[in-house]
Amino acid sequence: MMTIKKKPVKAKKEKILPKRERDGKEIPKPEAAETAAPEVARPKGKTYSRLRGMHDLLPKDEPYLKQLDRAARELAEFFQFGRIELPLLEEAALFTRTLGRGTDVVEKEMYVFVDRDGTRVALRPEFTAGLVRAFIEHGMWNNPQPVKLWCQGPLFRHDRPQAGRYRQFHQVDFETFGVRDPAVDAELITVGYSWFAAVGLPVEIRVNTLGTPAERERYVSELLGYYRSKRSYLCEDCRARLGKNPLRLLDCKEPQCAPVREGAPQLLDWVGEGSKRYFMKTLEFLDELALPYTLSPYLVRGLDYYTDIVFEFYYAPPAAPAGGESLPETAQSALGGGGRYDLLVEELGGRPTPGAGFALGVERTILALKRQAEATGQPSGSHPPELFFAHLGEDAKRRTLKILQDLRPAGFRVAFNFGKNALKHQLEIANSLKVPLVLILGQKEVQDETVIVRDMESGMQEIVGQAKLVNMLKKKLGREQ
Ligand code: HAM
Repeated sequence: MMTIKKKPVKAKKEKILPKRERDGKEIPKPEAAETAAPEVARPKGKTYSRLRGMHDLLPKDEPYLKQLDRAARELAEFFQFGRIELPLLEEAALFTRTLGRGTDVVEKEMYVFVDRDGTRVALRPEFTAGLVRAFIEHGMWNNPQPVKLWCQGPLFRHDRPQAGRYRQFHQVDFETFGVRDPAVDAELITVGYSWFAAVGLPVEIRVNTLGTPAERERYVSELLGYYRSKRSYLCEDCRARLGKNPLRLLDCKEPQCAPVREGAPQLLDWVGEGSKRYFMKTLEFLDELALPYTLSPYLVRGLDYYTDIVFEFYYAPPAAPAGGESLPETAQSALGGGGRYDLLVEELGGRPTPGAGFALGVERTILALKRQAEATGQPSGSHPPELFFAHLGEDAKRRTLKILQDLRPAGFRVAFNFGKNALKHQLEIANSLKVPLVLILGQKEVQDETVIVRDMESGMQEIVGQAKLVNMLKKKLGREQ
């Protein structure tokens, strides 16, 4: 388990006792690694860099972010999911208890530290556990069921950094509580699929069922028997998984383990009739909705709370080779995933309440969108400017700002550059932006309350009264209803 080095602050004995001490509970002692490392003095002039695995989302990513955000909001509104905001910090035990002790997230990836009051806290590595905590804490079983919630924001996992895998990343998450019905699962898969469709990304849905915990337990002992007999063929990680989390053996991406997996027993053969029936019904819904899914007998997900159906979304570039083997790892990693977790609310002390949901990875989706744009030559989500506003002189600069204010409500996308004063330089920028029209405002136009409108293709120029500019541009850019 990853720990943040943090020196615990001693509580003053008589006055401010840590809450847990006041409650008569034992304060967990920080482990050695949790004591703070001394801050190293930085030589003057030395700059700071991002922490390893952290990344900045830059203005060039904004068109993608906006598109993804808009799609999530519209889907949430249409399918009637209520927005919820959760804290970044939760009690660490919330995650260790729900995600499972043998999982990578809990074993290696959580950012855990002891807070000033002695509470062991974690930066949230995922949303579901926090959402279940909030569902119980706010007594949401009293609300009309199902309770449909969605949220988005940053999460933290101390993962091995690589393209598409960061230590701080973002998800969009949708959950439905209170109803166990294949229609609910199909609705969730539809919402996820529609999110990708809304931003123009082709995806494939992979589905499997994990059955009930008892059924899974029987399967795991069969699986272990099989994998132990192949131990010498396995990668080092998989050998470790034999003792910790055998289901994750099926998830290994190492080529040396692939042939072993080919011969492994399949979960679907081990689940009971009830689980199979439920799964088949969900698939019937997906067929009805004509969603492109494939059965993925080795899909197990990396978290322990799932029961029944699990699913993941993968980028499916039109020209991908069968199976996607030759795609880079980023394309083979899931863009999102989820499933049903009917025992989780009860496990966390709430009334037995079924639940299901999924989360979509924002960074991985942006990477896929960029790859898609490279492949098709069509930048996705970007809205290039259609006008460039050039100014000549200080008065014109001031008036430009005023005219820009008039153009904004009409929805024009206007570029300008107050850092360049020469018309020649400004026209060069306009050329590079490939705008069809340039507006030019000089001293004379300021006085006459006019603007020169230049057609960049023909080079023709017209003088237009500033009051008539919006209507004239609407006509020229084909915006008239
Ligand atoms: P997950 O599969 O762990 O599921 O994460 C969902 C998505 O988050 C992944 O498919 C991926 O796109 C993105 N993701 C995960 N880790 C990273 C990382 N280190 N860097 C970049 N992106 C990452 C969950 O989190 C479950 N809570 C989903 C869920 C909701 N199940 C039921 N409800």
